[in-house]
Amino acid sequence: MPSYLVTGASRGLGYAIVKVLASDPANTVLALARNKQAAEDRLASDKISNVHVFAADVTDETALKAAARQARSILGGKGLDVLINNAAYVSEKTALTSLHEYENDLQTVFEDTQRSVEVNVYGPLKVIFAFLDLIRQGQLKKVVAISSGMGDINMINEIKLSNAAPYAISKGALNVLMAKLNASYADSGILFMSLCPGRVDTLEGDIPELTQADLTRLQGILAKFQENADGKYVASAPEDGARNVLAAIDRQSLAGGFGGSFLSHNGTTKWTAP
Ligand SMILES: NC(=O)c1ccc[n+]([C@@H]2O[C@H](COP(=O)([O-])OP(=O)(O)OC[C@H]3O[C@@H](n4cnc5c(N)ncnc54)[C@H](OP(=O)(O)O)[C@@H]3O)[C@@H](O)[C@H]2O)c1
Repeated sequence: MPSYLVTGASRGLGYAIVKVLASDPANTVLALARNKQAAEDRLASDKISNVHVFAADVTDETALKAAARQARSILGGKGLDVLINNAAYVSEKTALTSLHEYENDLQTVFEDTQRSVEVNVYGPLKVIFAFLDLIRQGQLKKVVAISSGMGDINMINEIKLSNAAPYAISKGALNVLMAKLNASYADSGILFMSLCPGRVDTLEGDIPELTQADLTRLQGILAKFQENADGKYVASAPEDGARNVLAAIDRQSLAGGFGGSFLSHNGTTKWTAP
């Protein structure tokens, strides 16, 4: 009867992971969302009643510690088995643009990087430390960060992927953070690892309006991904993406040598592969 905590559970991949986990009544499913009511309403509309939702922004240590206290009473002394740090600031501001476009506007790059790091790096560390005692008491002892191939310098170099530097920098830093946690807690029996879910369609119908210039940039980026994936760069539906992530978490263990690893859902470093 494993227990899971998923952050960023209000929508996208996080909501899909919670939904897939909740479909097995043997699981104890805990979820963090900034807007608890909205997350509960969405679960109710999907007729899901076995998820415990806590309100917390991942940058808010006080709220996270309060959520951990609530989680402790729900888990009843059994501890937490798996912590999935999924929440992220996926910046739209710099998603399609390259650093050379900011030669006269460093402020935008700095502000977007600062926000990306606060949510995508400091956030998971705050969540991990708030819940670490519960993880220590759990059976499976797995702490996962949902990262992105965007933070892999080999792919950046291979296909000259110049867009979304703030987001990519934060994911690169997140991968190092998880490796450092593995190095720090190597003897604790806790698995720390980073996992890229591949491309997952999480737009939920919310298609952003793009200028002609952005559309051209987007087509260029997608062409590079297609080339990297030998033409097989496709998006998974959210629940398929969630199942891929959960299967990878299931397969990977500290004993299997996955401590501090950064891999795609398919166990490779081919980030754009289906
Ligand atoms: N989708 C992909 O193709 C893809 C590819 C590679 C990696 N990833 C990674 O997969 C994860 C999920 O991606 P996604 O596409 O589902 O993203 P998304 O649709 O943008 O959802 C982001 C989630 O994070 C939450 N969040 C954002 N800032 C937060 C904060 N400060 N505190 C708490 N929660 C916060 C959002 O909550 P609100 O509803 O409150 O805003 C939302 O639930 C991310 O880590 C992303 O980097 C996604």
